[in-house]
Amino acid sequence: MTAASAEFYNDKVVRQFTIMTVVWGVIGMAVGVLIAAQLYWPSLNFDVPWLSYGRLRPLHTNGVIFAFGVCGMFATSLYVVQRTCHVRLISDKLAAFVFWGWQVVLVAAVISLPMGFTQAKEYAELEWPIDLLITAVWVSYAVLFFGTIAKRRVQHIYVANWFFGAYIIGTGMLHVVNSIAIPAGFMKSYPVYSGAVDAMVQWWYGHNAVAMVLTVGFLAMMYYFVPKQAGRPIYSYRLSIVHFWALIAVYMWAGPHHLHYTALPDWVQSVGMVFSLILLAPSWGGAMNGVMTLSGVWHKLRTDPILKFLIVSLSFYMMSTFEGPMMSIKTVNSLSHYTDWTIGHVHAGALGWVAMITIGSIYSLLPRLLGLNQMYSVKWIDTHFWLHTLGVVLYIAAMWIAGVMQGLMWRATNADGTLTYSFVESLSATYPYYLVRFGGGVVILGGMCLMAVNMIKTFQMAKSTAPQPVLTPDPAQARA
Ligand code: HEM
Ligand code: HEM
Repeated sequence: MTAASAEFYNDKVVRQFTIMTVVWGVIGMAVGVLIAAQLYWPSLNFDVPWLSYGRLRPLHTNGVIFAFGVCGMFATSLYVVQRTCHVRLISDKLAAFVFWGWQVVLVAAVISLPMGFTQAKEYAELEWPIDLLITAVWVSYAVLFFGTIAKRRVQHIYVANWFFGAYIIGTGMLHVVNSIAIPAGFMKSYPVYSGAVDAMVQWWYGHNAVAMVLTVGFLAMMYYFVPKQAGRPIYSYRLSIVHFWALIAVYMWAGPHHLHYTALPDWVQSVGMVFSLILLAPSWGGAMNGVMTLSGVWHKLRTDPILKFLIVSLSFYMMSTFEGPMMSIKTVNSLSHYTDWTIGHVHAGALGWVAMITIGSIYSLLPRLLGLNQMYSVKWIDTHFWLHTLGVVLYIAAMWIAGVMQGLMWRATNADGTLTYSFVESLSATYPYYLVRFGGGVVILGGMCLMAVNMIKTFQMAKSTAPQPVLTPDPAQARA
């Protein structure tokens, strides 16, 4: 492939989002460590309202999902769509608006959540003026992404773009439907839904935020960066298409598993459970497609810590997509719901899968973006890998044990039918595990700080951040 005329990729926006992924990663996880510490040492809120657990918890979830995770997805999607379509983004101004608009959203979240402004809907806490800005940024992002696909120089649309595309459409739709509310003043609103319908809409959103944001978007990263880093084509292109359509068809129906034993009609809960069980198959099929891409180059895992990040993320993905369907079975959920088992499951997915695939993809992307062969220190990437893996294992093992223990203690009864344990007894039994989780968090945060230093050094090492020329596609692949 040769360079096409004088056109260059828009790498500025990719660089900006890459930097902010790491910055927000450090901030979001630092808040996670703080709330983990507060659960062990409650006095760490210093009696200051904006440092209280209830306000910092949504700051953590918004920080890691919408700041760290979604900035990672902006960076990788805008990089991948240009490279695989052999064109520059359709508009630099729109790209700049998407970057700055999203940062304003995030800063507004950092200010408004500790101040106590919230819609009290999990993962959709931000108040209506911020929701409107999110919608404007998201629509601009969709125009930028799909406009670039429409302008592509190759016939084919690479599968990673299908996944990114579904993530963009799905997330936009979920956000708009779940956020419809009547404003009752600046930073105050009431949802248009009520009662069980409100709960159903919220968990249709909540579960599909897991589906469209925490799964489909990151699978897009897998489909580009695993083959790229392994230097092999994806194991089965046909499987990737089956994987895509199966996920799209099944995920949307699984939301009611968050509302077992509630006022939601029983049959709706059963539909959620059945679709969750079915989800196991496409999830594992897709993950195997990523893992098997290493066929013939397994030895690279010994020397390439970036591949380690990418492949171990897939094993955590398989772990959490096995655990999720099990937890959706009503009898299992009667034990796991309200306990720290759920928190263990969340972080097997969030820290094991989402964070590791993002970190691996950023390590893979950054040197390519800066025209370098590798990051400043590959050894530091390896150290980061082991710190992160150790931290995740400490975190999730502690939460699994704590969760099952809590569930069993809460349901234990004496011969006369009275409860064997009081709630406070279950709480004190949980404390040691909260300390282990805090330790795991500190180790993970240490790894993220190392990544930040490695990133700064890599930028210093890059001689120039000149844009790279758009490559002309092979004539056999070019668009007629
Ligand atoms: C240093 C790493 C992290 C630490 C120490 C940490 C800690 C915590 C703590 C203490 C909670 C509250 C648990 C509770 O209320 O009982 C929490 C919740 C949560 N965290 Fe993290 N976290 C970390 C990283 C992440 C990452 C990277 C993500 C996502 C990409 C994430 C997503 C979430 C979510 C979604 C919840 C809410 C779970 C639920 O409501 O069931 N966390 N985290
Ligand atoms: C086949 C795939 C999956 C299924 C069927 C599934 C199922 C479940 C179930 C049954 C719960 C507990 C609901 C409750 O008792 O309240 C849950 C919670 C959760 N799962 Fe999964 N899960 C899957 C994959 C994942 C993945 C890959 C992630 C990525 C991070 C994830 C993130 C979460 C979060 C954040 C929650 C907590 C929601 C909340 O209550 O705030 N799940 N999941």
